[in-house]
Amino acid sequence: MYNEKVIEHYRHPRNVGSIEGADGVGIFVSDFCGDIVKLWINVVDGRITEIKFKTQGCAASIASGSVLTELAKGKTLEEAMAITEKDIVEALGGLPERKIHCSVLADDALRDAIYDYLKRHGLPIPQYLAHKHEEIQEQVRKLDEMGYILI
Ligand code: FES
Repeated sequence: MYNEKVIEHYRHPRNVGSIEGADGVGIFVSDFCGDIVKLWINVVDGRITEIKFKTQGCAASIASGSVLTELAKGKTLEEAMAITEKDIVEALGGLPERKIHCSVLADDALRDAIYDYLKRHGLPIPQYLAHKHEEIQEQVRKLDEMGYILI
C-alpha cells in the first residue's frame, strides 16, 4: 500500500537517533493511535544544523520522520515551523488516506523541539507553540502514570 519512496525511507530512515546535549528536544504523542515521535535539534545562527528523531510508530511515521529531517535541516526556525503534514506527504510522494495522520507526529515533535529551544534561550515563544506544548505534556503525564516507557 506504500509507494517506493515511502518504503525506501522506512527501510533506510535518515537521521535516526538522538543528539547528546541538543539545543532543543521535542516530543509528540498521537491522540489518534498513541504512537510517539521524539526529536532533537541543534541550532546555529537561527538555522537547524543537526536533527535526529526516534519513533515508536508505524512504517508511515518512520518514513515521515525521516523525510521531515531532510526537509528541516538547514532551514531557519521560522521556515521549519511552517513545515506541514502536507509538505511531508508531498515529499514522500503520497501516503494512503488512512495513514495521513501518521505524518503529523514528526512535524509536531519538531515544533515542540523549537519551543524547547526558544524557552531555553529566553526567546519569545508564539502562543500556539506554548499551548501545543502544554497539550503534549498532558499526554506525556498520562502515559507516565500508566507506566509507559517513553523513548
Ligand atoms: Fe500511529 Fe501510524 S498508526 S503513527
